[in-house]
Amino acid sequence: MDDWIDYYDSTHTIYVSKLHRDVHFEAIARDIIGYIASTDSVVLDYACGEALSAERVADACGRLILAEPAPGVRGRLVARFAPNTKIRVRSLDELRHMDEKSVDLAVMNSVAQYMTPDELDTAFAIVGRLLKPAGQLVLGDILQPNVGMSGDVIALLRFAAKHGFVKDALWGLARTALSDYRQLRNRIGLQRYSEADMLAKLKAAGFTASRAPDNIGHNPSRMTFVARHAFDRARGSDTAR
Ligand SMILES: C[S@@+](CC[C@H](N)C(=O)[O-])C[C@H]1O[C@@H](n2cnc3c(N)ncnc32)[C@H](O)[C@@H]1O
Repeated sequence: MDDWIDYYDSTHTIYVSKLHRDVHFEAIARDIIGYIASTDSVVLDYACGEALSAERVADACGRLILAEPAPGVRGRLVARFAPNTKIRVRSLDELRHMDEKSVDLAVMNSVAQYMTPDELDTAFAIVGRLLKPAGQLVLGDILQPNVGMSGDVIALLRFAAKHGFVKDALWGLARTALSDYRQLRNRIGLQRYSEADMLAKLKAAGFTASRAPDNIGHNPSRMTFVARHAFDRARGSDTAR
């Protein structure tokens, strides 16, 4: 296991049960839909993972591009969503060849922690090129420097209590303690940003951004940011939605 992309391409145990995985992706889809401005919108889900509820997102927009670096995951996405003509599956490299200014909403949820700061800058540049002038980037599930693994454990147990999988969650936490995830988390670590640092990083990448009141998904100890091209605001041509 070299890196987080290999990890996500493996038969990992990040979801403690099928129910956990299903309700996770339902919650993410619901929150992404909340950011879709129009049924014509072109939506990009950057590093989407298994995206099990992608059809619900596709129903709420004009086209959904699912971009995923892990080849095995991508293969399953292609097979799962082949019948849905609104959904396209792409590698991250393929995004570089898409038309510029073609995307209304780009979502990067629970991805930045697995990237080096330079990789995240590259991702911002790729997304920035794809976004329409009034498009939005929603960057979710950003880990803060002062919140340790206990914040994740509490959020998981609360989510489990709400959806009825506490026993599986406890077994899952025990498994995680012995797993590749724990080893990778200790060896490579997860990238963390304070609110000010992420706002500065987005600004340096050409965005104006603010922190959203709620994080995408179930973990309130993590942060979501909403960003737009800074130059449009300066020109006064930004149509806030
Ligand atoms: C926790 S999953 C998030 C999936 C989905 N966005 C969600 O919210 O459930 C992390 C995703 O990041 C991807 N990933 C891991 N390391 C990455 C990297 N260095 N660059 C880009 N994507 C990466 C994985 O392949 C996986 O799809």
